[in-house]
Amino acid sequence: MVLYLIWFLSSFLPATLPSSTSHPPAWVPWVYPISSLALEVKLFLFNGIATHTRKGQNFWDHLSENNVTYIFIPSGDVNELESQNIVPGPNTNLDCLKIIAMSGSPPLPKNYNFLLNKVKKDLFVGSVYGSTELLATFSAINLNIPAYACESQAPALGVDLHCFDSKGNSVVGQRGEMVVTAPTPSFPMYLWGDENNERMREAYFSKYGTGVWCQNDDGYFNPETKGFSIIGRSDNMLKQYGDTMSPDEIYLAIDHIKELKDYICVCQDSVCDDPRNILFVEMKKGCTFTHKIKKSIKQSIQQELSPISVPEVIMEVPGIPRNVNNKRMESLVKKIVMTNTIPEVTNIRNPDCLRYFCDIPEIVNYK
Ligand SMILES: *[C@@H]1O[C@H](CO)[C@@H](O)[C@H](O)[C@H]1NC(C)=O
Repeated sequence: MVLYLIWFLSSFLPATLPSSTSHPPAWVPWVYPISSLALEVKLFLFNGIATHTRKGQNFWDHLSENNVTYIFIPSGDVNELESQNIVPGPNTNLDCLKIIAMSGSPPLPKNYNFLLNKVKKDLFVGSVYGSTELLATFSAINLNIPAYACESQAPALGVDLHCFDSKGNSVVGQRGEMVVTAPTPSFPMYLWGDENNERMREAYFSKYGTGVWCQNDDGYFNPETKGFSIIGRSDNMLKQYGDTMSPDEIYLAIDHIKELKDYICVCQDSVCDDPRNILFVEMKKGCTFTHKIKKSIKQSIQQELSPISVPEVIMEVPGIPRNVNNKRMESLVKKIVMTNTIPEVTNIRNPDCLRYFCDIPEIVNYK
């Protein structure tokens, strides 16, 4: 089940709105918007599946009936709405709806196209980058400046957000790691049961030294727009033939292939050989992983990225592990690929699929 959080703004739209993401109760969004009540914002909380339709009423009808002005929605759910073609009907009145903010995972260009072409032309569509650990966002929506597809417009108030190269220099116009270089009120003070703050220091403050918060997200500040985009997790980087990239680039390249239900790509390091990338795909019900599908995956990656980006191994699995926030679990799959054993995991939705990543001769024999 997917939970939604939709915000209903009563009489005004503050220039900077807090934002949040969806999914299980106790997750950040259910706590985060409470302070908006102090601004006389009415909250409309939607606990359900966005693609669910009943008696001819769909997701957009709920928004219309409740005069929702601003919605927060995970970009993954916008994908779902698009793939099932769930659009406002001829009698759905979305006059009230002004802003859609996407978050949860980096939004895709097609998410913007869908919202602006199929939902409502006159909409402000933004992208928000945040963090569960902070119970807050790093970026904000600003109605006074333009929003560009797939970019967050600006750092949130009080967040000293930078993009660091590997030496720890703040860079613009160059891919790097997103960091926060000065304390913000939302930083956690302690992690549960973490005596002497050791785990926290190790997890968030070890890479660039004390005082620089780093949560392993790769990003890019655009010198022209002054906005920034998140490319993916820096700890899940793919390496092959000397080329480094994020799995999200592969996902973007193959996303349009209709027969694929899901996919995950990880790098397999080797002792004697070069690292190589492995793409696991899950087929939609009724579709078979044929030679033709494999070829079209290769072609798409070749065209969208480059010939050397095509993963050396492309194979089918019955399921792709997703965590409770519905994110793909690349580092878990990488661990299994590297050790052929399943580590202990707690935050996974579908643990049954993990065994299919073990004992694959093609992987185990690559030493
Ligand atoms: C939505 O707006 C209409 C028109 O102003 C009003 O009649 C209706 O009661 C509103 N609905 C809610 C749930 O506030």
